[in-house]
Amino acid sequence: MAIEIIATGRAIPAKRLTNDDLANRLDTTDEWIRSHTGIGARYVAEEGVAASDLALEAARNALAMAAEQTGTAVETLAQSLDVIILGSTSPDYYGVPATACIVQDKLGAKNAAAMDITAACTGFIYGLEVAAGLLTVDRSRKRALVIGAEVLSRIVDWNDRGTAVLFGDGAGAVLIERTETPSEGKNRRGVLRTILRADGSGAERLRIKQGGSRYPYQSGGAESPPHVEMDGRMVYNFAVKAITGTIEKLLTQENITINDVARIIPHQANARIIQAAGKRLGIPESKFFLNIEEYANTSAASIPIALDELNRTGRLKQGDLIMTVGFGGGLTYGGNLIIW
Ligand code: UT7
Repeated sequence: MAIEIIATGRAIPAKRLTNDDLANRLDTTDEWIRSHTGIGARYVAEEGVAASDLALEAARNALAMAAEQTGTAVETLAQSLDVIILGSTSPDYYGVPATACIVQDKLGAKNAAAMDITAACTGFIYGLEVAAGLLTVDRSRKRALVIGAEVLSRIVDWNDRGTAVLFGDGAGAVLIERTETPSEGKNRRGVLRTILRADGSGAERLRIKQGGSRYPYQSGGAESPPHVEMDGRMVYNFAVKAITGTIEKLLTQENITINDVARIIPHQANARIIQAAGKRLGIPESKFFLNIEEYANTSAASIPIALDELNRTGRLKQGDLIMTVGFGGGLTYGGNLIIW
C-alpha cells in the first residue's frame, strides 16, 4: 500500500504589494525587508475573500489537474473524496465551524469528513500525515485533499512593522490517494516518512492573543483586535534548530544522505533561516526551493503553494525524493519525505 500525491493546486490573490508599497505607509524600507527576510512582495486578498475562498480555488485546481490526468469529471472526483484536512492560522471563523467544512460543502464533496488542523505554519506537514493516516487505517477510504489556506492580511497589525512586512495570503492543495498495488523499485511513489513535533513551552512566543477563552476579546476594550504577535528573535533561533534537527532525523531514520534528496521544500518564513540551517548542515542553498521573494510567508499555505509551483513547471520528476520541512506557532515543527 502507498499514499501518493496525484495532483496539486494553488490560489493566489491578484493584488500584489511590494516592499516599496509598504514603505509608503510604514517606517520600513525595501532594503531592510530584503536583507532581513528575502521578501520582495506579497499578495493580499480583496475585501470579502476569506481563507475558504482561496482554499476552494486551490482545491478545484488540484481536482482539475487530476481530472485531466484521469479523464474523470471534477464533480465526480469531488464526490469521491473521503477526507478534507485544512491547515490555517487565519481560518474563516475561530473555533467553529471548521474552514474545511465550508470547502467541503462548496466543493460538493458529499462523502468527505472535513476538519481543520491548528499547527500554524506546520499545518500542511501535520495535515498530510493525518490525512495519510486516515487513508491507511480504513481501506474504505481512498482519496483526501490536504489544504493550507491563509488570509493573514486580516490578522496582522498593519501598524507593526515587525510583523506586517512578513506575511502574505494564498492557498495550496494536494490530492492524495491510497493505492493497494504501488509500483516498486524506481517507480515507487508516495509519502515515505513524517516527523511531527511540538514544543508548547514556546506557545506564548507566537500567538493571536485575543479572541479565545484565555483572553476573550472585548469589543470597545483597550486591546486592539485579534492580531499576530511574535518574538521574532526567539522564533528565528527555534526555527533554525527545528529545521536542522528535522532534516537530520529524517535522513537518519530513512538511512539516506542529503545527496539522495532531490529537493528540500521548506516553509517560507525567512530566507535567512533557510540559509543558516543549510550552512549548519553543509547543504548547498540550491537544494532548497525558495519562492519567498514573491509570496512572503503564507504560513500553512507556503509548502503546498511551493509544491504546486514546482509541479506545474515540471521541476518535480516522478521518482524524485523530496523533503518538506517546517516550523511555526505552537510551537510546532516537522517534515515529510515523499517520493514524487
Ligand atoms: O512562520 C512564522 C514563524 N516566524 C518566523 O519565522 C519569524 C522568525 N524571525 C525572523 O524572521 C526575524 O526575527 C525578523 C525578520 C522577524 C526580524 O529580524 P531581526 O534581524 O531579528 O530583527 P529584530 O527584530 O532584532 O530588529 C532589529 C531592528 C530593530 O531596531 P532597533 O531596535 O535595533 O533600533 C527593529 O525595530 O530592526 C527594526 N525593524 C525594522 N526596521 C525596518 C524591525 N522590523 C523592521 C522593518 N523595517 N520592517
